[in-house]
Amino acid sequence: MLMPESDSPTPNPSRKREGDSEKWLLTGGTGQVGLALQRLAPAGVEIVAPGRSELDLASVPPLEALLAGVTAIINCGAYTAVDKAESEPELAYAINAVAPGVLARAAARAGIPIVHVSTDYVFAADGAGPWAEQATIAPASVYGRTKAEGEAAVQASGARYAIIRTAWVVSADGSNFIKTMLRLGAERDSLRVVSDQRGTPTHAGDLAAALVQIVQRLTADPSQTSGIWHCANAGETTWHGLATRVFASAASHGLKVPATVEAIATAEYPAPAKRPADSRLDCSKIAIDFGIRLRPWQEAVDAIVGQLAEQEMAA
Ligand SMILES: NC(=O)c1ccc[n+]([C@@H]2O[C@H](COP(=O)([O-])OP(=O)(O)OC[C@H]3O[C@@H](n4cnc5c(N)ncnc54)[C@H](OP(=O)(O)O)[C@@H]3O)[C@@H](O)[C@H]2O)c1
Repeated sequence: MLMPESDSPTPNPSRKREGDSEKWLLTGGTGQVGLALQRLAPAGVEIVAPGRSELDLASVPPLEALLAGVTAIINCGAYTAVDKAESEPELAYAINAVAPGVLARAAARAGIPIVHVSTDYVFAADGAGPWAEQATIAPASVYGRTKAEGEAAVQASGARYAIIRTAWVVSADGSNFIKTMLRLGAERDSLRVVSDQRGTPTHAGDLAAALVQIVQRLTADPSQTSGIWHCANAGETTWHGLATRVFASAASHGLKVPATVEAIATAEYPAPAKRPADSRLDCSKIAIDFGIRLRPWQEAVDAIVGQLAEQEMAA
């Protein structure tokens, strides 16, 4: 289960000076958050996002060449197929638990910070949110356990780090709950959606903007301490509440929506992985420490549905 690891003996402290340009190494550049982050690259920052063929997180290659001139690492890559992870625990472990540690130890040797994205699924299936950062974790799934181990590996690495836990990521890219609902809603007259899991949808673009701000703080201010922060859009809902909002928004754009969206219990929709019944994240720490307050989830969802409706009309 051990991964090959870069073994650079010479630390390469990289400090930002006035006028210097920055170079960020991004994993998961083809994912929802990674794509959004590349669109938000600030002036003077080059974001390099090697794909699987160059940087396979299941078996991380030596990192010296990839880290040349890099001033920060952002780890958005992950094994995110929550149900499939139950039958592929070793692969999920390699990508979610081992790779973050390899990347973070390489960051420590290079003297650069790492920003690592984690999940609400580190919390218990039956606990009560909103969860603060210091709340006890008790993941109920392979995905949640491997992500929790990834957090621990980053914390133990010796690098300066920010672990950002987010939840229910949605966007106009990739596959996610909003896109699934719109596809099914166009095909069927009625849908059944789970209404006893609470949480907060998070726009990948809003999260990416927060990540940019955090990386900039870490690179500009060497006294910025490491830690875990929660980051999600404001407010809360259920999967059923989210589906209802998606269809209200879709209808306002003239898209076909189902006539009924029935609320059902998790027990009526058995899935391989257990999920927290209450996934709500308390995001007050990131507001206090970084001034980051994401907009209400409803606005974020409307923006994504509007974008998808425009794409459909243009197609
Ligand atoms: N999605 C959610 O609802 C959610 C909720 C909470 C937290 N998070 C966390 O947020 C972060 C970003 O999630 P996301 O929604 O942007 O994920 P995503 O859209 O599923 O993208 C995952 C990314 O990881 C890459 N990846 C997977 N296996 C890889 C491997 N072996 N080698 C290299 N790259 C690999 C994928 O590359 P390919 O394109 O090559 O597959 C893709 O770029 C992750 O840390 C995730 O755990 C997500």
